[in-house]
Amino acid sequence: METNIRQVSEQLKQRLEAAKDSAAVEQIRVEFLGKKGQITELLKLLKDAEGEAKRELGQQINELKKQAEADIEKAQADVTAAEQQALVDNAEQYDVTLPAQAELGSYHPITLIQKEVEEIFASMGFTIEDYAEVTDDYNCFEALNIPKHHPARDMQDTFYLSNGQVLKTHTSAAQNTIMRKYGAPLRAVFPSRCFRNEATDASHENTFFQMEGMMIDTDISISNLIYFMKTMLSEVFKRDVKVRLRPGFFPFVEPGFELDINCLICGGTGCPTCKNGGWVELCPCGMIHPNVLKYGGIDSEKYTGFAFGLGLTRLAMMRYGIKDIRILNSGNLKALSQFSQK
Ligand code: FA5
Repeated sequence: METNIRQVSEQLKQRLEAAKDSAAVEQIRVEFLGKKGQITELLKLLKDAEGEAKRELGQQINELKKQAEADIEKAQADVTAAEQQALVDNAEQYDVTLPAQAELGSYHPITLIQKEVEEIFASMGFTIEDYAEVTDDYNCFEALNIPKHHPARDMQDTFYLSNGQVLKTHTSAAQNTIMRKYGAPLRAVFPSRCFRNEATDASHENTFFQMEGMMIDTDISISNLIYFMKTMLSEVFKRDVKVRLRPGFFPFVEPGFELDINCLICGGTGCPTCKNGGWVELCPCGMIHPNVLKYGGIDSEKYTGFAFGLGLTRLAMMRYGIKDIRILNSGNLKALSQFSQK
């Protein structure tokens, strides 16, 4: 009987080693542990043994049975895992995300016009500068000849942060930093988002874009200013647009001008976009005040320069015939994608 037990154990081991798939392992389970299985048959034979021998043999057969159950279970787990891995390895390779259905995005109309104006100025030797949207009182006002409590501060109602910094109200806030960075001579444009505490209407937003420009050299005059403004506008509109230059006051230029464009929405007859005036304020400009040059570390006896603050958002409105400025910040893709260049 003991020999039988050893033989069955040995046979089970060999059979399990040879089993290649789960069906083969299941077959082995039936052959050894099933109702008529070899181990079940051994248990049946016990009834012929007696006394101590019966007890010992019973113990040996039960151990064999337990071991057989554990070995078969492990063999079954191993072949099942191997079978599943084989399924994965042999599966057809494909990407459920293909073909891609995503719609291509497009540039915002203000970005389109900004890129265009940047290219125009770059072709005339201007560098394109980047400057933070959060600045301080000195850069936004004092370095621009607007001391504390100066009435000109009322023109730009400002968002102050709790740490005393301000959200840039105009791109002129970068003038001092750029003058200090490059010195003279200098040609630079610097576009940016600006923020003002404004009541919004068809032509005013609390968040809008400007592009500042500065040219500083010996012998720069108003003629240079007018030439660059005219060139820029004729390149942007690719046709003659009526502009007018009128005196304007900004403490950081002297003399200062307002450059207005004939409203292209109504053709100058008057509409909500131009507040019925027929003209849209687009690009104030002027000759940089000597104090501002001095604050920027530039010799105002030797150098002169002009500066302008182009309203990029309004330029986009005129260029694309957008009647209401609020569309531009609306996030309405249906409206904005009409102007897209993919
Ligand atoms: C200024 O911001 C001056 N820093 C411009 C300047 C620069 C003058 C250099 C002289 C020399 P103003 O506040 O007018 O000026 O704004 C300039 C342009 O930004 C306006 O003509 C207009 O086109 C645009 N702009 C101003 N406020 C708004 C607004 N709330 N919404 C949309 N565009 C605006």
